[in-house]
Amino acid sequence: MSEELWRAVDEFAEGELIEEDAVLAQALAASARAGLPPIAVTPSQGRFLNLLLRIHGARRVLEIGTLGGYSTIWLGRALPPDGRVVTLELDPGYAEVARENLRRAGLAEQVEVVVGPAADSLERLRAQGGERFDAVFIDADKQRTPEYFLASMELVRPGGLIVADNSVRAGAVADPESADSGARGMRRFMELAGAEERVTATTIQTVGAKGYDGFTLALVEP
Ligand code: SAH
Ligand code: DHB
Ligand code: MG
Repeated sequence: MSEELWRAVDEFAEGELIEEDAVLAQALAASARAGLPPIAVTPSQGRFLNLLLRIHGARRVLEIGTLGGYSTIWLGRALPPDGRVVTLELDPGYAEVARENLRRAGLAEQVEVVVGPAADSLERLRAQGGERFDAVFIDADKQRTPEYFLASMELVRPGGLIVADNSVRAGAVADPESADSGARGMRRFMELAGAEERVTATTIQTVGAKGYDGFTLALVEP
């Protein structure tokens, strides 16, 4: 089993199931031109997130880690016309690329890109006490995922969904002594999710064009 095979399967399945999309292709091209790292979700993963939100009937979504807004477009497209995405990004340059990509996607009105350390933005959202989110996608600095999970618990409604990306890290998550601080963060996150009575969660390992990783899904019981 090789990365090459995983990539070939993604290419086949995406060829059959996911239509060519000029807006998404442009978003990736503009991100690459601006020097952003090529770490956005794959088309299959973006569609997976889109389907989860639609199954869930989400209207308000919080994303932690925008990059160039590629995943944000998939999230935004899952929402009804009055839906809203708030997406948090540390890097002002990345946020600018994302805003332009979202504008081209016709999502400028529905998506708010908030610049700054996510921990600060999350605290501000909590203090503002606005309407709760239906779902949160955590995909920023992996070592802070436990912190983002706890903040998300305060910001999602009862029955809300929390999804964390990159929770397997090529298997490093199974090693308590991993040198990968992101993997250690994901261990702590799963420990917290497992200990939280209100949460029902699972980790699904994935392979594909981005290698071996996974998603953790956590439903906050109503
Ligand atoms: N969700 C994107 C990928 C996000 S990559 C997609 O799939 O298309 C992770 C992003 O988190 C990067 O853009 C990085 O700048 C951002 N990030 C890292 N540390 C952060 C922090 N402390 N606060 C907010 N964003 C952060
Ligand atoms: C990294 C970040 C991601 O969100 C991802 O999906 C893959 C890698 C990273 O920071 O290396
Ligand atoms: Mg990711």
